[in-house]
Amino acid sequence: MATPIVLRTDFPDLKLHSRGKVRDIYEAGEHLLIVTTDRMSAFDVIMNEGIPGKGEVLTRLSRFWFEKMKALVPNHLVAIEVDDFPVAVRRYRDQLEGRSMLVKKARPLPVECVARGYLAGSGWKEYRERRTVCGIPLPAGLQESSQLPEPIFTPSTKAEIGHHDENIPFSKAEELCGKERAAEARDLTLAIYGRAAALAEGRGILIADTKFEFGLDADGKLIWIDEALTPDSSRFWPLDGYRPGGPQPSFDKQFLRDYLETLDWDKQAPPPPLPPEIIRKTSEKYREALEKLTGIGL
Ligand SMILES: Nc1ncnc2c1ncn2[C@@H]1O[C@H](COP(=O)(O)OP(=O)(O)O)[C@@H](O)[C@H]1O
Ligand SMILES: [Mg+2]
Repeated sequence: MATPIVLRTDFPDLKLHSRGKVRDIYEAGEHLLIVTTDRMSAFDVIMNEGIPGKGEVLTRLSRFWFEKMKALVPNHLVAIEVDDFPVAVRRYRDQLEGRSMLVKKARPLPVECVARGYLAGSGWKEYRERRTVCGIPLPAGLQESSQLPEPIFTPSTKAEIGHHDENIPFSKAEELCGKERAAEARDLTLAIYGRAAALAEGRGILIADTKFEFGLDADGKLIWIDEALTPDSSRFWPLDGYRPGGPQPSFDKQFLRDYLETLDWDKQAPPPPLPPEIIRKTSEKYREALEKLTGIGL
């Protein structure tokens, strides 16, 4: 592994823009500096331990997908090499290398844009109860992890740290973003998902669902922001052994989630300590996803 674990950054002479579950974001002139740490969250609670290589995997994967889709959708990426960052930022090189991006500052749309090609998670739950997902009626007879007749757009609200996102019908997204923006975001979401899912399937990974964020740039144009098709923002399943009718093993958090489920933990902060074996396996899974998708390991 090239990079040391970074759990949290504190750059005294940069202005902190925000700290998310995984990313520390700083002001950098007209741009933002996004530092993807090795923090890991599960059930929306941030674990105490870092996952080696995680920040780098997420950064490389995002870059890979932004690049692949750039003819389809403009994105926020400005620079990814520390040498191309502003001078004031470069002094933190040792904590930035491999895990940071200089991006266009955008005004994020107030919804998360989710595409689903398969029934899992909250989608499966809603389907079982009402045979809909985000209010979209679906055919009877689908099983857990079944492929949907076609991918659907299922927006959700953006929850504050410690809360869970909530699925909303498209009409609510229209209310929050405006009709035209909502339609634009939906169309982009489905277009990106369609292409990415086809590419990933050819490389042995099913993308069951994924979450995108879009924002308005300085010119009021819609651009793709945040992260792109990573194990944190998506459900990746191994194609090999895919069998609807139950949950699928996943590439990313499954080890961790399965482990946490064995504990008597209420899924509220503070998190329990993680055994080294769980950390190691989780790190391996992240790297495996990167290698399968991009052909290049860490
Ligand atoms: N180009 C951008 N302009 C403004 N905000 C952005 C941009 N890209 C990402 N963000 C915001 O940065 C945050 C990413 O940090 P992260 O740790 O992933 O947060 P979260 O815990 O909300 O997932 C998100 O709130 C996202 O909306
Ligand atoms: Mg995020």
